[in-house]
Amino acid sequence: MAKELNIKKSMQLFSDALKVMPGGVSSNARLWQTSYFCPIYTPCTIFAKRAYGSHIWDVDGNRYIDFRLGFGPVILGHGYPSVTKEVSTEARKGTIFALDNELELSVSKKLIDMIPCAEMVRFSVTGTEATMHAIRAARAYTGKDVIVKFEGHYHGGYDYMLWSTSPPYDTKVRPYRQSMGIPGVIRNLVMVETWNNFESIENTLKKYHKKIAAIITEPIMGNAAAIMPKPGYLKHLREICDRYDVVLIFDEVKTGFRVSRGGAQEFFGVKPHMATFAKSMSNGYPISAIVGEKEIMSLFGPGKHKVTQGGTYASNPLSLTAAKATLNVLKNREVYEKINVYGKRLMRGIEKILDGNKIENVVQGHPAMFQYIATNNRDIIYNYKELKSNYHADLYAKVQYWLMTEGVLLDEDNQECFYTCLSHATEKTLKPTLDAFAKSVEKALNSKFKMTRFKLEGTAKMVAPKGNPVQPQATS
Ligand SMILES: Cc1ncc(COP(=O)(O)O)c(C=O)c1O
Repeated sequence: MAKELNIKKSMQLFSDALKVMPGGVSSNARLWQTSYFCPIYTPCTIFAKRAYGSHIWDVDGNRYIDFRLGFGPVILGHGYPSVTKEVSTEARKGTIFALDNELELSVSKKLIDMIPCAEMVRFSVTGTEATMHAIRAARAYTGKDVIVKFEGHYHGGYDYMLWSTSPPYDTKVRPYRQSMGIPGVIRNLVMVETWNNFESIENTLKKYHKKIAAIITEPIMGNAAAIMPKPGYLKHLREICDRYDVVLIFDEVKTGFRVSRGGAQEFFGVKPHMATFAKSMSNGYPISAIVGEKEIMSLFGPGKHKVTQGGTYASNPLSLTAAKATLNVLKNREVYEKINVYGKRLMRGIEKILDGNKIENVVQGHPAMFQYIATNNRDIIYNYKELKSNYHADLYAKVQYWLMTEGVLLDEDNQECFYTCLSHATEKTLKPTLDAFAKSVEKALNSKFKMTRFKLEGTAKMVAPKGNPVQPQATS
């Protein structure tokens, strides 16, 4: 007998949420679009109740080993005791000052100590704000306007960067506008390249360098199944940027403090001119940082020839306290060793189970952020198009469904990674996860196991929308 997925209360609440929140959520990325339990034609999500260590509980009382980790920020474990304790103590002293505070100074010094390219620091709240201000500084520094980004890389939800983050794999449109409401004229300020193609980016810089202010890249594709850079690729980007007077920005919002204490730039040994950090910096509290070379960073400030950056909640003492406490734990390289050993075992175990079921696959990425891809073209996953045109999405969604019945939570879409944290390693979650994975793959491959699709109660009968049911086509 297959275990039933009981998410009845979640679905009742979601039904309610649809009436007061567009799509039933506060962030589009939370909607699962291919999940087998979602009501037909209705992307949905479940309701969380609480999370601790490596586990998350939903409102129906299900407990899951959590590999989503809030889309990556939780590097130590949910509610890590030293972080929670220090934040609660700090909260009693006030939550916002709009003045400098000493915490800001000490966390800045820590970042400069840990991150190779960091000579100066500015804090903001989200990854979106950090990349937005970094590209502004790069434009001011170079006096040029165009930003080069890569297909399948995500840098935040604003008009300059919401292009070709997740386009239909067969579209020829580039840059591809990902949302209605983005002015078409911005197309002239962004160029989209294929990642890991040495010649193409070099030719683009050679031809257009007089217009190009910056290249922004995720050093590991954390929003496209953890695609790794080809050997020498990041170094190549740095070299051509130096040659053509272009600022190289590493968006380390996902890789920062996750793949290494100095980020991907330390892991791969390549220094960008600027970088952005967020997520794992504070184990889940809202803070981000823009760091980089002094000459560029010094442009931030008031005045006619300066760059504006700021925000009411920038460097608030609670987030800084969380960052300070998290970085104190991450100073210890043993933390990374534990996560790496755990992640490697998990990666190998998953590969073995897939091989055992004769599913051709590649398990790629870093032990702290990786993904499995069921594909029979295992040697070629080096960019977004190769990923999207070569993997079996349906199998992934089925496995995700059955994993939930076995108490393991993944995102429904393999563009997100498996994220691992210290609590996964210390709470002995490896065997239960691999056992659950083996059972889930077996059920996904066998049609005798029936999945339950939930119905929405108390709402109008859902009808199939015209065209693409899940994503309104952006006019590109
Ligand atoms: C690489 C990268 N950059 C920027 C962002 C935007 O961060 P935020 O959601 O905090 O605005 C994200 C979000 O996932 C990200 O993955």
